[in-house]
Amino acid sequence: MDRLKEKVALITGGGSGIGRASCCLFAEHGARVVVADLAVGGGEQTVRDISAAGGQASFVRADVSKSADVQAMIRHTVETYGRVDILFNNAGIEGPSAKLANYDEDAWERVIAIDLTSVYLGMKYVIPHMVQQGGGVILSTASVAGMVGFPGSGAYAAAKAGVINLTRLVALEYASKNIRVNCICPGIIATPMAQRVMGERPDDRVVRLEPIGRLGQAQDIANAALFLASDESSFATGAPFVIDGGYVAR
Ligand SMILES: NC(=O)c1ccc[n+]([C@@H]2O[C@H](COP(=O)([O-])OP(=O)(O)OC[C@H]3O[C@@H](n4cnc5c(N)ncnc54)[C@H](O)[C@@H]3O)[C@@H](O)[C@H]2O)c1
Repeated sequence: MDRLKEKVALITGGGSGIGRASCCLFAEHGARVVVADLAVGGGEQTVRDISAAGGQASFVRADVSKSADVQAMIRHTVETYGRVDILFNNAGIEGPSAKLANYDEDAWERVIAIDLTSVYLGMKYVIPHMVQQGGGVILSTASVAGMVGFPGSGAYAAAKAGVINLTRLVALEYASKNIRVNCICPGIIATPMAQRVMGERPDDRVVRLEPIGRLGQAQDIANAALFLASDESSFATGAPFVIDGGYVAR
């Protein structure tokens, strides 16, 4: 239960779904956690859950698509806990579902800003701290939608593919600085996002998309994130880790 002892982790989108499960698991394993989210209620609830379980956490409100907010959340982390060992760029939105010719331009801009530009900004402003500290871990939540054609998902799939390749090149740029950079590609995970897309109770057709016979749980992704954030994965960098119940193996 101490796989992240002494570590400081900043997790975006920490107020719901995969982000909340990761914040709680990281804290359980000894990390001091900064929960960043646009939604104050959800973020503060995650901090209360961590405190109730005896962990250490702090909330910062941030819109990850805004440079000033990203810089402020990193500053908050360093001022509160003295360093930043792990940045988990996890916040994201699904955007509309529409074939490309009908895909709204404003929605395109918004989804790219929140799902891709956010990752660039997080990396850009955390790297100087990590270089100064002598290393760190950057993790992002991409998606299987960034690996295979996913009709109707326009900007979302383009953004997630961008996150995967940004992960590769930034890993190469900073490998010599002891900064590891990886991303996770989840399949369909039962979170509020998936409920918005598929409804409260996904039908059998949706579940059958997952060869393993069930949807993923936020905990399945948090478990992978814990491994990638910890020193147990010290030889892993520049890679998309597919945790998808077999979705892309078809
Ligand atoms: N659920 C899935 O099936 C699935 C599959 C693949 C990838 N993902 C990815 O996993 C990540 C987490 O998704 P989830 O399923 O937990 O969704 P979720 O909707 O439950 O949680 C997303 C969180 O991000 C926050 N957020 C949204 N926009 C933000 C912004 N601009 N700034 C800061 N925070 C913001 C929301 O307030 C929310 O707390 C996302 O990047 C998503 O694309 C999810």
